[in-house]
Amino acid sequence: MARVQAWPLRGWTWILWLVALCALAAAEVPQTCPQRAEIAPCTCQVKKNGLDILCEFTDQLHINNAMSILKGKSLIIFYLKLRHNNLRKLPGFVFLGLDIHHLTIHNSSLSVVEEASLSSIGKMLTQLDVSQNSLTQVPSPAYRNLNHLLILNMNHNKITSLHAKAFNGLDTLEILTLYENKITSIDPDAFVGLEKKLKRLNLGGNGLTAIPQRSLGILDMLKKLEMQENRISEIKEGDFEGMRNLDSLGLAHNKLRTVPSRVFSHLTLLNSLELDGNNIDTIDKEAFAGLEENLQYLRLGDNNIHTIPTEALKRLHRLRHLDLRSNNISFISEDAFAGYGDSITFLNLQKNDIRSLSGMIFENLNSLETLNLQNNKLMHVPEDVMEPILDTLRVVDLMDNPLLCDCELQWYKNWLRNLKDKDDEMMQKKRTVCTMQHEHREYSLQSLPLDKMKCKIKSYENSAYSSADTQVAASKALVALNLLVLAKFLLVSS
Ligand SMILES: *[C@@H]1O[C@H](CO)[C@@H](O)[C@H](O)[C@H]1NC(C)=O
Ligand SMILES: *[C@@H]1O[C@H](CO)[C@@H](O)[C@H](O)[C@H]1NC(C)=O
Repeated sequence: MARVQAWPLRGWTWILWLVALCALAAAEVPQTCPQRAEIAPCTCQVKKNGLDILCEFTDQLHINNAMSILKGKSLIIFYLKLRHNNLRKLPGFVFLGLDIHHLTIHNSSLSVVEEASLSSIGKMLTQLDVSQNSLTQVPSPAYRNLNHLLILNMNHNKITSLHAKAFNGLDTLEILTLYENKITSIDPDAFVGLEKKLKRLNLGGNGLTAIPQRSLGILDMLKKLEMQENRISEIKEGDFEGMRNLDSLGLAHNKLRTVPSRVFSHLTLLNSLELDGNNIDTIDKEAFAGLEENLQYLRLGDNNIHTIPTEALKRLHRLRHLDLRSNNISFISEDAFAGYGDSITFLNLQKNDIRSLSGMIFENLNSLETLNLQNNKLMHVPEDVMEPILDTLRVVDLMDNPLLCDCELQWYKNWLRNLKDKDDEMMQKKRTVCTMQHEHREYSLQSLPLDKMKCKIKSYENSAYSSADTQVAASKALVALNLLVLAKFLLVSS
């Protein structure tokens, strides 16, 4: 019997031991900052996960000194931030004996990172930010041992090219940003080693003139690729081959003139595509082939597009957000949204040259919530054009159009009144006006003097977008308004 009981007892002791060990490990070494004077001008704060050390507007000597004080104290330095310093060179072994998790060396004139400068912290470092310095190339030998790094930020440096295996060793890296360097060439093997984990890559603000297909093609885990603000003048079929998990592609502010056939055909998971700020005037009918199942956001603003590219868009039956602002569209043809508009909730046509809207152009936009027609040349917005979308529309922007006050604009007032009941304040703040020609004055669309204009005032009682409730609410509002006017009148006259 005794033997049988001994077993559970022994089991318990085991667990107790384990608990005690865990407690010890959790307690670790107490995290306390060194004396203020010891590390000055650097400062230290205790944070939940370790110390937060900041050294600003100082030099190599003071930083070295602070590091040597911190050494050998078994401290966890969660953040080491060196900013606005004069630190041209990061010398070897400078962090030896330190446990640093996030390291920032920002705006410190850094141009040389010695091979042995970072290797000692490779086991702990998860984030490295060397932005806004003077690096002219990737200091690959210094990076080689950073086997736990997740985020590497090299924005705002002077890197002109990415050499072969520039990031070798960074097997765990998930985010790499090289925004605003001077990169004009990328070796086909530049990203070797990053293929298993890299999820985001920012190559924006550089001098690329073409898609570096061979370098990027191996990054099959990549979800987000940013190449905005380069000088890319052409994209072609095959350019994005290999990036089969890409979710978001940014090509805004380049020099593209055409979007050719099947250029994105390998990006079947793409959800968001930014092509704004190019010189695009031609979009091939097959331009978006391959994007049918997943593309929801498409930005084509600030280009030179003359018509809604219906043929190309037709296949995008999941499209929600279509931005065509600041183009050269003067006319919307009857079938502009035929066969694909069903899923669109946001349509931006502001800053175009649209002169008239007619027919059933919006008929298919059954989900439209936001329509922006600001800054066009519209003089009339007839009710029969708007009628199919009034049910779903939450925001319509007609500002900065040479609208004439006519009875056809009645829909606006009624639609807005309906919206008020849905508590939408944003729309009420917008003051859209029309011009009453013979009076040479402007009226707000919200307060069109329909009687004075001798309009045949329509009853919306039976219309689809007006319910009994809204009628009651509207008449209540009217009563309140009358009372207010009466009160004002009494005040003035007394
Ligand atoms: C960069 O650091 C210098 C000091 O070294 C400072 O004068 C300058 O304002 C900093 N620039 C920015 C953009 O922070
Ligand atoms: C728009 O197109 C007209 C010709 O149709 C052209 O003269 C004008 O420069 C274009 N505007 C822009 C901003 O491209």
